[in-house]
Amino acid sequence: MTRLARALALLCFALLIGAPTAEEAEDFVATYGRYAVAADQAVASQAGAEMLEAGGTAADAAAATMLALGVANPASSGMGGGGFLLYYRASDQSLTFLDFRERAPGASTPDMYDDVPESMGGRANSASQLHGLASGVPGEPAGIEAMVQRFGKLPLAQIAEPARRLASEGTVVGEATSRMSAAFSDQMKRDPVMRGWFGPDAALLPVGATLRQPELARTLQAFGRQGAAAIYRGRIAREIVRANNRFGGKMTLQDLADYSVVEREPASTQRFGYRWVTAPPPSAGGFTMLQSLAILEGLPARWRPTGEGGPNAAFLHALAESWKGPYLDRERYFGDPDHVDLQIERLMAPERIRARADAFHPTLANPPADFDFPLAPEEPDIVQSDNAGTSHLCVVDAEGNVAAVTTTVNLPFGARYTAAGMVMNDEMDDFARAVGEANAFGLIGGAPNLPGPGKRPVSTMSPTIVLDAQGRPVICAGAAGGSRIVTAIQQVVMNQLLFGMNVREALEAPRIHHQAHPNTLRSEEFAPLPDALIRALTARGHEHETIHNVATVQTIRIHHTDDGVRLEAGSDPRKGGRPAGS
Ligand code: GLY
Repeated sequence: MTRLARALALLCFALLIGAPTAEEAEDFVATYGRYAVAADQAVASQAGAEMLEAGGTAADAAAATMLALGVANPASSGMGGGGFLLYYRASDQSLTFLDFRERAPGASTPDMYDDVPESMGGRANSASQLHGLASGVPGEPAGIEAMVQRFGKLPLAQIAEPARRLASEGTVVGEATSRMSAAFSDQMKRDPVMRGWFGPDAALLPVGATLRQPELARTLQAFGRQGAAAIYRGRIAREIVRANNRFGGKMTLQDLADYSVVEREPASTQRFGYRWVTAPPPSAGGFTMLQSLAILEGLPARWRPTGEGGPNAAFLHALAESWKGPYLDRERYFGDPDHVDLQIERLMAPERIRARADAFHPTLANPPADFDFPLAPEEPDIVQSDNAGTSHLCVVDAEGNVAAVTTTVNLPFGARYTAAGMVMNDEMDDFARAVGEANAFGLIGGAPNLPGPGKRPVSTMSPTIVLDAQGRPVICAGAAGGSRIVTAIQQVVMNQLLFGMNVREALEAPRIHHQAHPNTLRSEEFAPLPDALIRALTARGHEHETIHNVATVQTIRIHHTDDGVRLEAGSDPRKGGRPAGS
């Protein structure tokens, strides 16, 4: 497929991310005094709040919310996928990052997609996006178990119960799920379980229909009783391998048995008076945000963003320019840090940041190459080991613990087949299918991110917690939306911290996105930039394009008051979620 065709595919995905109905968008922000959950599905926020009411921690609530999300909107996440947790524990003020991203099966090779036919019909149809070869080994069940064992208080059976109930009794299909099903219904109907979700001759899952998932309910019950072992070994593991292989994949029981969660040092930096803590590699998202903040802070004083003037043309221009360099670094250097010599310190070296800040022109958009400062003398070695759709939620509990989780099956309905009721991911598309080729999000793949046994693909997911000068968490944030995840998070957080917006204003504000390739500044149909701003940006030389939205963000603002806290929780109106809390 050509780059142009992939860019068009990308645009289609942007259009697919559902706009909510007016009714769904009504209560997307709420304020609480004890605890709060912000997810992109109301029933999932409620599942989390149920755990908090029962005395659970933010980890228990995040786990219940994740499981319920996978039931209520199987297009975006679920047990067949994976994700990242960033956790702030109030008792010792520690920050922990758990990586439960999918891993490439043992049979994966750098050239595994070279000879596979490109088109299997319909959208997102390449072998890294559809069916068995597209699936990494799921990490979600192990991740949930790890976070509950580490930070939780409640039994897994209690945590899994709201999701089991929803799967068994049925959930109401929302706008986003319906829209995504319309685009992929033909492919989904090739799977016997998903076929059963559609009425006779139905071309989509209608908004308001009841979606019952009895197979998934049984899997959730087994997970609640036996933990992750129920998924990675025994009957369900055999079912995963059978389904994957039936759809052309090469996953084995050994791949499942070998899966493990990795704890990593979170990425963090002090900028604009706050400590920003976010995802380390294999996410490139955290790196992009931290580098962008460093460049912005390093600009000469007269161009540096301040609270004055709001997010005006000068600020949006500086933002777009600040992202170009880090996205180029991503293309060239990023891969699984356990398999690639990823030299983050060299990439973040102050002289490199200064060179990028020096290359910035306040009234001219530079070509991305002007921000390209390759590491000398040569690119890092790639160390191939021998053995070698998305949703974000935030929780703050009554003890002050904070959980930021981003979870994904990658493209809508993952690889569009199920195993034991679970939608299986197509996370393999986050690898480079070939060096220089773009994935579904238009991200160009580099050699360090080629597939290999046991590798984790580069991600943009960036669960983020920002702390104030006293070390208290003040914002939890994260997003879904492929390559646009991190640029959206950065704007929603800066809107609050720099421009004094409340959560409603910060979520409603127009967003922009730039990822160097294509060399195009994107703004939203959902929240249009005023024409004058577009003119001011194009006058600086930016190519401009409108897409439906720039990701969907969930955030909680934690206001510390004399009496305790005030929690302002928001679920992005772009996806129709609602927060819950007390
Ligand atoms: N699958 C989306 C991401 O990991 O960035």
